[in-house]
Amino acid sequence: MTNTNIILCGFMGCGKTTVGRLLAEKTGRQFVDMDNYIETRQQMTVSRIFETFGEPHFRELETEAAEELAKESNLVIAAGGGTLTVPRNVEILKATGIILMLDTPLSVIQKRLESDTTRPLLQKPNRGAVMEELYNKRLSAYKNAADIVVPADASPQKITATILEQLSTR
Ligand code: S3P
Repeated sequence: MTNTNIILCGFMGCGKTTVGRLLAEKTGRQFVDMDNYIETRQQMTVSRIFETFGEPHFRELETEAAEELAKESNLVIAAGGGTLTVPRNVEILKATGIILMLDTPLSVIQKRLESDTTRPLLQKPNRGAVMEELYNKRLSAYKNAADIVVPADASPQKITATILEQLSTR
């Protein structure tokens, strides 16, 4: 596990960024949030990228970011919610480290994101139903991509402790 990248995947709002920061601290790794990484490189928010260039362009930027980050080591990477639903991205990131899925119940995510303004895919009427459909469509992709599925209906501290325990057995 020394120097290996740790990649967190899962649906929007599952806790990747919060848990990722804690995990980075505990394992002495640098934390990288892929959305932030893309925003810094593009000098544009994810919302603006979707609005200006469309989702397919954002997906290309995600694959580029995955390729760049895969060259690094000793990172905790919080992937975007869509990143690990793309087989090519799974291939790129799996080659560089271990993939963990944060398995957070849909109801928790729906509550967390009910007033979110930063996720372009959710700025629609009937947000609860939009999330449900996308969540059900993506769940198996996350689980297939992951080396470890972590139950994530707990505090970020508890989830981090569970992850550290799982990683120590590897
Ligand atoms: C997306 C998730 C977002 C961000 C973009 C698209 C998705 O990341 O990449 O809004 O397709 O699920 P978070 O999971 O960090 O919110």
